[in-house]
Amino acid sequence: MINTTTKYLGLTLKNPIIVASCGLTNNVESLMELERNNAGAVVLKSLFEEQIKMQIDSALKGSINHYPGGEDYLRYYEERHVVDNYLKLIRDAKAKLTIPVIASLNCAAGGEWTKFAKEIEKAGADAIEVNIFRLPFDLQDNKAVNEDTYANIIRDIKANVSIPIAAKIGKFFTNPAIFIQKLAFSGADGVVLFNRFYGVDIDLETEKVVNDNHYSSANEFSDVLRWTAILADKLECDLCASTGVHTWKEGMKILLAGAKVFEVASTLYINGIEEMNKILAGIIKWMEEHNYTDLQEIIGRLKHSNTEDNELYERVQFMIYQTKFD
Ligand SMILES: Cc1cc2nc3c(=O)[nH]c(=O)nc-3n(C[C@H](O)[C@H](O)[C@H](O)COP(=O)(O)O)c2cc1C
Repeated sequence: MINTTTKYLGLTLKNPIIVASCGLTNNVESLMELERNNAGAVVLKSLFEEQIKMQIDSALKGSINHYPGGEDYLRYYEERHVVDNYLKLIRDAKAKLTIPVIASLNCAAGGEWTKFAKEIEKAGADAIEVNIFRLPFDLQDNKAVNEDTYANIIRDIKANVSIPIAAKIGKFFTNPAIFIQKLAFSGADGVVLFNRFYGVDIDLETEKVVNDNHYSSANEFSDVLRWTAILADKLECDLCASTGVHTWKEGMKILLAGAKVFEVASTLYINGIEEMNKILAGIIKWMEEHNYTDLQEIIGRLKHSNTEDNELYERVQFMIYQTKFD
């Protein structure tokens, strides 16, 4: 009998497959379907800082505000509306599911929104995943300020709640190891590597800027593997892999590299949510064939310090090909 139990953020998961924050995790019926198809945990669709602000702005534009203080009222009302719906989703999910329910906050800066974390905890979420990103393109925006913003957001949220927090981050930092360690010191119990950015493209027919493909491909997995293996050695906090896990093979590899769990989204849209059953079955079959009985024997087995070939994790230039194929 294979034991696929794993621990992430202090939570016990029956298996390492987490459904990433996406459209499949924004209603209870779909969440129940995900649980039936072997999700080990779910991350709810994010409550966006932008989303709250947009709703406030549209209410203000559409209203004729005759009363001093009316703007504040509308702002309060709209904010409660979005937040209340989200809190209801958490409560409903907790009432119907047995697997851990992780709420998700999506933001680019600190401020008002951090107070919502407290209500999320009260609604019953088992943890919060905080998706933080600021696109630094301003010449006046100094690197230290940008990276410190992340640590400050984590610290603010952590000060408000006692449930665990994971930081979901992108891969573009001066030194991801130092940066993530700073996040852990600021209170992050786990880190999700990596957030996949919403893509952009140009349509040559219409000469307009358009959205790129919403879904990842398994080709995007290599950076996740590299950084998971390198960081699994160095950090105290838990690692969760995200981006490019499409089949059991990527799942198996990322566990070997040191992730305690992994998230899936695109593969469920492309192949259907039943794909999770195949991912779990594939992991169990591989473990049986390789004579493992417990997932804990697997996790980190091929992390950076555990492998003889660990320089392959470090090598990024193509020197070897010059001798092989020149
Ligand atoms: C349709 C869709 C909606 C998403 N919505 C969110 C979201 O609300 N919050 C978030 O943090 N990530 C969101 N994501 C990103 C996913 O959580 C995930 O990080 C990304 O898709 C990479 O994982 P994958 O390769 O398994 O798809 C969304 C992705 C998709 C495809």
